[in-house]
Amino acid sequence: MEHNKGATSGKVVVVVAFLIGFIGALVFGWVIFPQILYSKKYQPINFSHAAHQDSSCEDCHYFREDGTYSGIPNIDNCRECHEEMMGESEAERILVEEYIQKDKPIPWLIYAWQPDNVYFSHAPHKDMDCVRCHRDVSEEEKAPPYYENRLTGYSKNTMKMVECEKCHAAHGASNACQVCHK
Ligand code: HEC
Ligand code: HEC
Ligand code: HEC
Ligand code: HEC
Ligand code: HEC
Repeated sequence: MEHNKGATSGKVVVVVAFLIGFIGALVFGWVIFPQILYSKKYQPINFSHAAHQDSSCEDCHYFREDGTYSGIPNIDNCRECHEEMMGESEAERILVEEYIQKDKPIPWLIYAWQPDNVYFSHAPHKDMDCVRCHRDVSEEEKAPPYYENRLTGYSKNTMKMVECEKCHAAHGASNACQVCHK
């Protein structure tokens, strides 16, 4: 009897040790590792889409005549209204003093930026809602933090291959590798 009891508590110790290790690994893999993997960055100045609701999206993001997408507007666009301070905010002060007056481009971080080996163009996607592929910016007062993968240098918020492929399959668009990898 004595002997059996010792064996049982020995098993309990092994099970407990296993659980501690197992839970520890889960916590590391799901909570700690992702935090180590991504470095958190902020936009050089806070841009509020909500403060610009009087402008239309196309005033700042539009197709050029050659069909390429303008992307994020440069400071010449901002200068039209912010040559001088209109309000009191710190963000606007930095915009005017550090960028517009010094004629320095703003190094915006691009959340959707794809790895170099992916080819993407807005042109074949121009009839789709922006929010199909991007976050909804229209009510945003603060640009969200940007997470950069420390190993690859890529944005965490880039659209994953499977997401592109799912929509291509649903709409009969090609999923041949060379369509997206040139
Ligand atoms: C006054 C110019 C301006 C207007 C108007 C504007 N945007 Fe922007 N947009 C910006 C700037 C500057 C950024 C970069 C900062 C940021 O990401 O918030 C940006 C970023 C974005 C991005 C993020 C792209 C990425 O992946 O990094 C999306 C999507 C976007 N805008 C969509 C819209 C939509 C939709 C509208 C209309 C509801 C709109 N924008 C109106 C200036 C503008
Ligand atoms: C089918 C998906 C999709 C749709 C729809 C889409 N985008 Fe994008 N967008 C992307 C991807 C992917 C990128 C990153 C492109 C790259 O890495 O070359 C991007 C990049 C951007 C950028 C920043 C990159 C740059 O070129 O400077 C802006 C701004 C932007 N999109 C705005 C918009 C707006 C505004 C709309 C709606 C009118 C829209 N997008 C619709 C997928 C999409
Ligand atoms: C058509 C005019 C117009 C253009 C173009 C424009 N803005 Fe503005 N911006 C405004 C108005 C109006 C406000 C609101 C002023 C206020 O309430 O203080 C504003 C406010 C701001 C603020 C302060 C918002 C806050 O609450 O902190 C920043 C920063 C800013 N704009 C950045 C930009 C940038 C960057 C660009 C170029 C990509 C740009 N704006 C282009 C009209 C414009
Ligand atoms: C919401 C649906 C949707 C999503 C998401 C989407 N696409 Fe597309 N894409 C389409 C459709 C539909 C077409 C075909 C348009 C046409 O034929 O006019 C297309 C066409 C293309 C083309 C041109 C193909 C050709 O033969 O010229 C490329 C390149 C492309 N997509 C790349 C991408 C990439 C890369 C992503 C992910 C980052 C992506 N797409 C996400 C719907 C989507
Ligand atoms: C509709 C667009 C699209 C098609 C078609 C496509 N890819 Fe991709 N692929 C992407 C995008 C976007 C990424 C980057 C995002 C990611 O890693 O998911 C990517 C990333 C990759 C990567 C890097 C792996 C990784 O996870 O980082 C490999 C390898 C790859 N693709 C191979 C292929 C092969 C092989 C095919 C053909 C069977 C193919 N792709 C077809 C859009 C596409």
